[in-house]
Amino acid sequence: MNTAYTPHPGPPPQGERGFCETVSCDTPPPPVGGGWGEGDKPLPHAPLIELREVTKVYGQGTAEFQALRGVNLCIEPGEFVAVMGPSGSGKSTAMNILGCLDNPTSGSYVFRGLHVEQLSRNQRALLRRYYLGFVFQGFNLLARTTALENVELPLVYRGEPRAARHARAREALDAVGLRQWEKHTPAELSGGQQQRVAIARAIVTSPTILLADEPTGNLDTQRSHEIMDLLVALNRDRGITVLMVTHEPDMARYAKRIIHFLDGRVDADHRNGERH
Ligand SMILES: Nc1ncnc2c1ncn2[C@@H]1O[C@H](COP(=O)(O)OP(=O)(O)OP(=O)(O)O)[C@@H](O)[C@H]1O
Ligand SMILES: [Mg+2]
Repeated sequence: MNTAYTPHPGPPPQGERGFCETVSCDTPPPPVGGGWGEGDKPLPHAPLIELREVTKVYGQGTAEFQALRGVNLCIEPGEFVAVMGPSGSGKSTAMNILGCLDNPTSGSYVFRGLHVEQLSRNQRALLRRYYLGFVFQGFNLLARTTALENVELPLVYRGEPRAARHARAREALDAVGLRQWEKHTPAELSGGQQQRVAIARAIVTSPTILLADEPTGNLDTQRSHEIMDLLVALNRDRGITVLMVTHEPDMARYAKRIIHFLDGRVDADHRNGERH
């Protein structure tokens, strides 16, 4: 495990700079390019993430379904949280909202004091690009593309030069123990290795928070424990906040806190002993 910690992504391209500095926990300089109004400044001691009375309604009319019915939760920097609950209880819906992949029907998502629903599409994309890492259950890797190219993809979107991209992608592959597999395509890797490539892709941008929806859902027990050890190390050594959905109590035991969903609401929220 490479423990070198990059606390913040390198300087973003011109034009995106104001956004990053504004969202940073440090006292921001005035935004470049007119990003935010006075009242929109982030609060230095605000929680990392807050959901306030968030609802999500899918469909319309008779097909309408309320997947979230007023979710409240608050995540502080550095936490390692497992989200559990029955199938259909709204876990993925909440994760997709937190990952800015979907919008709530009502309620607020507040990221470091900034109201995400008030951000433009472009600003939300930047929030995703610089602060959030997302790991899906199905890995979502590009099939005919090497591990290195898969991992560097978020940096391509950020317009980083090729040499810098490669260096950072290699560092991320190193962090997940796959440096020597960089030229392999997903078909040439095991399920556990593919999930580690997906995690490398999520951390290559040095995100503040890693959102993982059933990261061990497709893996056998041994590979699942390896992935959990990796997530624990990323949380402990790099200070990345981790929010992970799991159905498996054995995997949830790695977390410091467990949140239970039931019928579109948070049903229970408790500390998980002193494992770390
Ligand atoms: N795009 C959609 N359109 C309509 N209904 C949806 C959509 N996505 C989710 N739902 C419904 O919302 C509810 C919550 O779904 P969600 O995927 O959040 O559950 P989950 O807790 O992640 O379940 P699982 O453990 O099975 O992954 C489900 O009843 C589901 O059918
Ligand atoms: Mg789900």
